[in-house]
Amino acid sequence: MENTIAVILAAGEGKRMKSEHSKVVHKVLGKSIIRRVYNAVKAAGIEECVIVVGHRQDEVREEMQDLVSYAVQEEQLGTGHAVMQAVDFIEKSKRVVILSGDAPLISGETIKNAVLQCERNQEYATIFTAEFEDPNGYGRIVRDAKGAVCGIVEHKDATEEQRRIKEINSSMYCFDSKALCDALKKITNNNVQGEYYLTDVIEIMIQSGLSVGTYRLKNHYEIMGINDRVQLAEANQMARKLCNEKHMRNGVTLIDPETTYIEEDVVIGRDSIVYPGNILEGTTVIGEECVLNQNNRITNSTLADHVEITSSVMTDSTVDSYTHVGPFAYIRPNTHIGKQARIGDFVELKNSTIGDKTKVSHLTYVGDSDVGSEVNFGCGTVTVNYDGIHKNRTTIGDKSFIGCNTNLIAPVKLGTGAYTAAGTTITKDVPENALAIGRCRQEIKEGWAKGKTKVNP
Ligand code: UD1
Ligand code: CA
Repeated sequence: MENTIAVILAAGEGKRMKSEHSKVVHKVLGKSIIRRVYNAVKAAGIEECVIVVGHRQDEVREEMQDLVSYAVQEEQLGTGHAVMQAVDFIEKSKRVVILSGDAPLISGETIKNAVLQCERNQEYATIFTAEFEDPNGYGRIVRDAKGAVCGIVEHKDATEEQRRIKEINSSMYCFDSKALCDALKKITNNNVQGEYYLTDVIEIMIQSGLSVGTYRLKNHYEIMGINDRVQLAEANQMARKLCNEKHMRNGVTLIDPETTYIEEDVVIGRDSIVYPGNILEGTTVIGEECVLNQNNRITNSTLADHVEITSSVMTDSTVDSYTHVGPFAYIRPNTHIGKQARIGDFVELKNSTIGDKTKVSHLTYVGDSDVGSEVNFGCGTVTVNYDGIHKNRTTIGDKSFIGCNTNLIAPVKLGTGAYTAAGTTITKDVPENALAIGRCRQEIKEGWAKGKTKVNP
């Protein structure tokens, strides 16, 4: 879209959010509201984007960095005043799309189609509108007897009759840049709210004989504005529903989409099954034929095909094919688990590699370790990786056997095929194929318990 720029209005305080933060950095399905609007601009093929910032602009700048240009509105005197702050940018373009920073579900396709209509019909302004059963609170599109647009009236300024109009203003528009800049010079704050309304430019343009059109949206949710936490939850729900439907259409079984939370950038392969209570976040990639049983939270992790995970938490990690994890495993960042491995209940892994076919079945902590393949961990193994100052690594060779309740005091190495006896505290390296025993020898006191009366309290 050459010669077209986008301006996103995001300077308002958003009082009804009752938040210390800018309204537009609150998240919908894992992505900030402002980033979603920006993504729609990009998807529409518009290269240049300006955000009008004011309240908590530090947070908006931090979120968007130098992906966009900024215009500052020091005092929030209304949507028209907000656009005035961006005229230096607007003047350099032929056409401008104005978007509301608080409507996160707008799609690139809608923006593109509206701009195309604007071009095709040679309109000086194209207003994105929708028909609402309950238009309360919105600006209304006022039309004459022939159905031509005469202007927009804000709810608070509307007469009883105008309030019955169901066609509402979405606060998104495509304008001819020059016509918009000319009209902005003429708006006043002579209204109930004492603000400079952007909506007033429509009537001004019509009075100057410029043609104005409307682009009616099919999907109402696209113009859903977020003013409070209830609407934030509604937008989340809608975004989640759309995302879940996309996965189901791609061949993923979601047993209960209502209780499944999958963020937008997550990729899931065909024939994978997702049970209720799963939260899949960030850049997570799930392979084909995986089974995510109930209640996992998987963040920025990659699972190969045929992996099964149950009631576990996994962050920034990778799992190779045919491996089972859980129930109740905690896989912390930078862990790689090989193929056909088993990670069982109450096992915590951190910053470690676990080889193919290795079994860590129960009640074990493996941190900062390099574990070979076909290793068997007995119940209750602990890699003692922290000496109070430094984190140290444990290395375990292929086919080793770690007896139950072994402590491996790092840094330490076990050679291939090494054994540790149950209850051993390993402080020295164990050579290949050796057995290490480090525990007190058992003593027997014959007859010691005879004649003792056990009392059960
Ligand atoms: C606006 C429209 C209304 C439309 C509704 C749709 C006007 C006068 N009214 O009303 O016709 O039906 O959106 O949701 O335009 N903003 C600034 N600076 C300001 C004021 C607002 O940047 O001085 C930004 C806000 O941060 C927000 C957007 O503009 O992102 C919309 O402002 P808001 O106050 O929510 O407008 P509404 O009253 O909802
Ligand atoms: Ca609003």
